[in-house]
Amino acid sequence: MPMVLSVEQVRRMRGGAQAHLMRCDDGGYYVVKFQNNPQHLRILANEMLGTRLAALLGLPVPRTEVVEVPRGLIELTADLVIQLGVGRTPCRAGKQFGSRFPGDPARLTVQDFLPDEQLREVENLGDFAGMLVYDKWTCNTNGRQAIFFRESGDRAEAGGSSEAGDSASGYTAMMIDFGFCFNAGEWDFPDAPLRGLYSRHRVYERVAGMEAFEPWIARLENQITERVLGEEAAQIPPEWYDGDWNALERLLERLYRRRERVRELILSARNSGREPIPNWKVKHA
Ligand SMILES: Nc1ncnc2c1ncn2[C@@H]1O[C@H](COP(=O)(O)OP(=O)(O)O)[C@@H](O)[C@H]1O
Ligand SMILES: [Mg+2]
Repeated sequence: MPMVLSVEQVRRMRGGAQAHLMRCDDGGYYVVKFQNNPQHLRILANEMLGTRLAALLGLPVPRTEVVEVPRGLIELTADLVIQLGVGRTPCRAGKQFGSRFPGDPARLTVQDFLPDEQLREVENLGDFAGMLVYDKWTCNTNGRQAIFFRESGDRAEAGGSSEAGDSASGYTAMMIDFGFCFNAGEWDFPDAPLRGLYSRHRVYERVAGMEAFEPWIARLENQITERVLGEEAAQIPPEWYDGDWNALERLLERLYRRRERVRELILSARNSGREPIPNWKVKHA
């Protein structure tokens, strides 16, 4: 299993999992979630499986990696602790989950939220429709979360594309935080109409019907086979789900069967009466 080694803690990140930004020996920076995070051990398994499945659907997600955090680094870094209600405990050493920061954090500004007007400048806004397909499928019980940044021509890992005009480009959205897919540590699927939506409904502005979701539904139906699910699950370090293979197997079986329910789940959001998809009008008979 490929793995990177963390060499330095950079800073603490916001959020309930108490992740840390860490520099690693491959030259990259990763947002690292620890096995003893305050949410649940399985958050790490969800992140690894969830991010990889989203990538298979063609959605914009960070690269993921198993990050080895040495005991010595934790002992030397006073900030590498999990804060509890009362007191604190050191972050656990060993294999942790890493979500790659999309550049050099000293030079690339990453935002958690954009004001509504700037959402218009997001070049891949259509991906939020694809993400709803994904979040309904996996029953993400947290709101959809994304980060936004401006691509610049000098990005080291932009996949080779630094076309002229890049520096003047708009924002790119990248989907993050897969910890609450499959309902966090529960691995059940408590579906509800408004679950999995992005809080700014403007991102669905261009959606006028089910057609907007079909490209991702097609990938889900055609590409996510039982074999693919098994291959992706095999990438998860077993200590992230306590070696409970049976539970993982059941999770995969349910995911496989749920692929056929996505249209119905999206319709329940649209018909909820809250109009989360503002331009997809409910036609009254
Ligand atoms: N790959 C990434 N690149 C840049 N920033 C990230 C990345 N992943 C997470 N973050 C940042 O770290 C914060 C915490 O990550 P998140 O996955 O939301 O954890 P939590 O489960 O604690 O909410 C996010 O709000 C975001 O700002
Ligand atoms: Mg979060």
